Amino acid sequence: MISEDVIQRVKEENDIVDVISETVKLKRAGRNYSGLCPFHHEKTPSFSVSVDKQIYKCFGCGEAGNVITFVMKTKNLNFPEAVKLLADRVNIDLELDHDNDNKNNNFEKLYTLNVESARYFFNCLQKDDTAKKYLINRGITEATIRKFGLGYSIDRWDGLIRHLKAKRYTELDMLTAGLVIKSQKGSYYDRFRNRIIFPVFNYKGKVIGFGGRVLDDSKPKYLNSPETSLFKKGINLYGLNFAIKNNNSRMFIIVEGYMDCISLHQHGITNAVASLGTALTMNQAKLMKRYADKVIISYDADSAGQMATLRGLEILKKAGLDVRVLIVPQGKDPDEFIRNNGKEAFLKLIQEALPLIDYRINVLKNELNLSDSDDIVKYAEKTLEMLEELDPLEKEVYIKRLSEETKIRDQALYDIMNNKIQKNVKNSENMNTDNIFGQKLYLEPAYLKAERGLLKLMVNDNNALEYALSTIKKDELIMDSHRKIFDYIVENMQFDENEREKRIESRCDDIDTSKEWVNILETNLVYDEYDYENMIKDFIKGIQKYKFEEAKKELINKIKRYESEGKLEESLKLAHELIEIQKKIGGIQ
Ligand code: GTP
Ligand code: MN
Repeated sequence: MISEDVIQRVKEENDIVDVISETVKLKRAGRNYSGLCPFHHEKTPSFSVSVDKQIYKCFGCGEAGNVITFVMKTKNLNFPEAVKLLADRVNIDLELDHDNDNKNNNFEKLYTLNVESARYFFNCLQKDDTAKKYLINRGITEATIRKFGLGYSIDRWDGLIRHLKAKRYTELDMLTAGLVIKSQKGSYYDRFRNRIIFPVFNYKGKVIGFGGRVLDDSKPKYLNSPETSLFKKGINLYGLNFAIKNNNSRMFIIVEGYMDCISLHQHGITNAVASLGTALTMNQAKLMKRYADKVIISYDADSAGQMATLRGLEILKKAGLDVRVLIVPQGKDPDEFIRNNGKEAFLKLIQEALPLIDYRINVLKNELNLSDSDDIVKYAEKTLEMLEELDPLEKEVYIKRLSEETKIRDQALYDIMNNKIQKNVKNSENMNTDNIFGQKLYLEPAYLKAERGLLKLMVNDNNALEYALSTIKKDELIMDSHRKIFDYIVENMQFDENEREKRIESRCDDIDTSKEWVNILETNLVYDEYDYENMIKDFIKGIQKYKFEEAKKELINKIKRYESEGKLEESLKLAHELIEIQKKIGGIQ
């Protein structure tokens, strides 16, 4: 069996839009994508893929599922085969964990090793005045040290090794976790020596690796854990575990460094995350997209920082995020700025952050000399290119501005732009631009909706769950897949809603169950006043009614048969039963 952790990682790293795009031509439609359904024949698109929810659903034929289901169905694979294919697609090595007889424990072991090390570094910091002073001098408070679990690795070759050995960890474990380095001679030594230690958490708050900073100006300034099966740099963001808490604004601030991120949090900007000096990846952008609609990027103003910014912006935009650029005045980094000027001043910078298009235009303007007429033309042309992606109203605003700046009549600017667009249309393939969804091809029976509604309440509301368990038994459900999901809900009761949903999804390892799980998540319960007891009662009635009606059909068939066979007595007996059932059905309404 493949562990839930691995299944979750495979899902996290295989974006459903990417995977489906390999076989279905998808078009962006608001927050979702749509296209022609691969599961039934149609001419107008009814097939919809949700980035946020990582699911697909066809409004035409009712097919639904997640990335794994999609692969199972389209490639005709079973669950483990589909997981394997997707794991290979993103270089997750399932075999790596197979080698150890207990792979679940393998991840867990790495985690505990990291936690143990983080504790050790933390204690070392508390005991070392010089290291402590370094942080205090940089304005870091004791509370922040605790919140971020900051530590110190002492100036020895075997500080951590000795500590972990005493806890019965082997050097091989330490090597796997990236905590030690193996020398050419085959001996082991600590990777981090005489450095301030920043534990790196994943979005769930588990320690997956470390960064270490020197206390002076020596090089390299930072050392990081190597890539391990836990620590994958391109798919994580520093501080995300804190930033996703209470992020009601659905906005993140992205900075470059550990210190920037920590400092912003300390000053009350708690939605900051850090990309740790590497270029942003699509995986990181998608991870953010789950929790935010808007990101504000605040990188160094130096030109390297500017290039990194521009590249990062493209990726963020592609992921569907609203992107702004925050410029820290006087070339300061966010840490220095907020330390000197405080939270309010930084909030003001956030407010003034430029929309992506303005930032790009500014960068372009700085590269050109607008008193030179050649450059003016270049400026106008390049700006118009950037404006193409805007909606007509925005276009108008920017074209007006451009016209004022360049003294080129706006009609001329429109002409240049329209010429370009026409060329582009000719080049692009004839894509189906019809947005009308195809006709619904199926009618769903009422019991199906009732069972989905019931399960939806059970997943989302603990009180409803408790009430449902006291009112209905799993076996009373009609659909097999719903019975399974019923069990999974009960098994995962103790987790919070988010975690519960993830775990249940990992358990849905056949197409039907996975499809129904998506349908349950997608069920919108309509209620004037939320009253789960009555809702559950109604759902149960809906299920019972269906059963009675099925029984009724069967009775009628039998009666007809007996009548045709001349067995009048038997048929009369059944007629009585039929009356009873009809009464029951009547009673339900
Ligand atoms: P301070 O200088 O302590 O304020 O650190 P900072 O976090 O502001 O770092 P800086 O802006 O110089 O760099 C941003 C990020 O890039 C750091 O947080 C590191 O993650 C990374 N980085 C910087 N220097 C190095 C280095 O020498 N090696 C590695 N691997 N990463 C580095
Ligand atoms: Mn800094």
